[in-house]
Amino acid sequence: MKILILGSGGREHALAWKVNQSNLCDKLFVAPGNAGTAEIATNLSLALNDKSGVSDAVLHLGIDLLVIGPEDPLVNGMVDFLKNEPKLKDLLIVGPSAAGALLEGSKHFAKQFMLKYGIPTAASEIFTKADLAAGKQFLSSLTPPYVLKADGLAGGKGVIITKDLNEAEKSLDRLLSGQFGTASENVLIEEFLDGIELSLFVLTDGNTYMILPEAKDYKRIGEGDTGPNTGGMGAISPASFADVNFMKKVEDKIVAPTIEGIKSEGFDYHGFVFFGLIKVGDEPMVIEYNVRMGDPETQVVMPRIKSDIVPLLVATAQGKLSEVSVTFEKNAVATVVLVSAGYPGPCESEERIIIASRENKNIISFHAGTIQKKDGLYTNGGRVLAITGLGNHLLEALSNSYGGVGSVKWEGMNYREDIGFDLIKSI
Ligand code: AMP
Ligand code: GLY
Repeated sequence: MKILILGSGGREHALAWKVNQSNLCDKLFVAPGNAGTAEIATNLSLALNDKSGVSDAVLHLGIDLLVIGPEDPLVNGMVDFLKNEPKLKDLLIVGPSAAGALLEGSKHFAKQFMLKYGIPTAASEIFTKADLAAGKQFLSSLTPPYVLKADGLAGGKGVIITKDLNEAEKSLDRLLSGQFGTASENVLIEEFLDGIELSLFVLTDGNTYMILPEAKDYKRIGEGDTGPNTGGMGAISPASFADVNFMKKVEDKIVAPTIEGIKSEGFDYHGFVFFGLIKVGDEPMVIEYNVRMGDPETQVVMPRIKSDIVPLLVATAQGKLSEVSVTFEKNAVATVVLVSAGYPGPCESEERIIIASRENKNIISFHAGTIQKKDGLYTNGGRVLAITGLGNHLLEALSNSYGGVGSVKWEGMNYREDIGFDLIKSI
């Protein structure tokens, strides 16, 4: 088969790494990809939202299977566009249509969906600019911390959590005054949930589902979970607090009703569902849905899947997920994200990356913002590499991951030194 993966992050490199191991994969393309994907696939110079560019590439290269990595093209209707092209009627696509992608594209839509299907989530109210005064009044009726969320996609920056009422009111004002353009025309004010977070991934063909390994993501820039939110500074899998009893509750109260809801709504949904969960006491609740895999969670989930992933992706696209099964490795995997100086703010400079040569099958370097130049590898953005370590248990995985980190260097490189440590203490 000829397979194309859309995206350029660590998530797409990890997907490409797994797909590339399949005997069913004859030729692999990644668009636009990065220096890491270029080592195992052919990178195509295509913009993520270039619908006709993707359509032309699929046609001319004879792509059989397309896997869409990030949310943007999904929310923008890439799948609908391709499925409406008669010439592409045989193309298999992993990724939901725009209607299903609204589960990530609109937090209000997702909330309404959860309420309709009885899925546990934080209570919330929605406000527009016209209701600013009512919004402020609502804030003052709540106990802190206050949680404010831009309704639409805001590049992971649309959630504000503060204990200060004055700050919350100012944030509401800023959001409704167009801080994120149309994405913050509507703002949700939500009950604060106190607990430990978990990322869970499911493949669905819109009818049945397959649960993949869970992961814990470390979202804040600073050690001890401090400072601004990022796309994720590291991840581990499995997460020890997600025991069998808890996961049974997750499946019964959240996963099954969500897939039932997707079916009842008639979404054309063939792809991943990423459940952003929080364990409050012993009960799971949904913080958010995403309609794709997570980054950096994919970098720990892929090495835990033992089965060939291509038949699973094909079955998802064909609506035949009930005909395939999956097996997992009994390993632990950790990843540490190496970022540029200034991240999560803008990172303009390109720095030369020095990687000491090493051969260790328990360390995988997944690339994100990297670019290969004539004289070597350079940084190309804020999130640069995810150094993944495999082990028999979490401590070994972390030790391999941090061992790998020790052989990478560039000017201004930053990373968290405490990924996974909260879970080591509790062992
Ligand atoms: P989201 O973009 O919805 O995933 O939110 C980003 C982060 O904000 C989440 O990963 C949580 O850490 C935090 N968060 C969002 N909603 C809540 C909530 N209702 N209670 C507590 N923390 C939240
Ligand atoms: N790591 C969180 C996300 O991919 O949204």
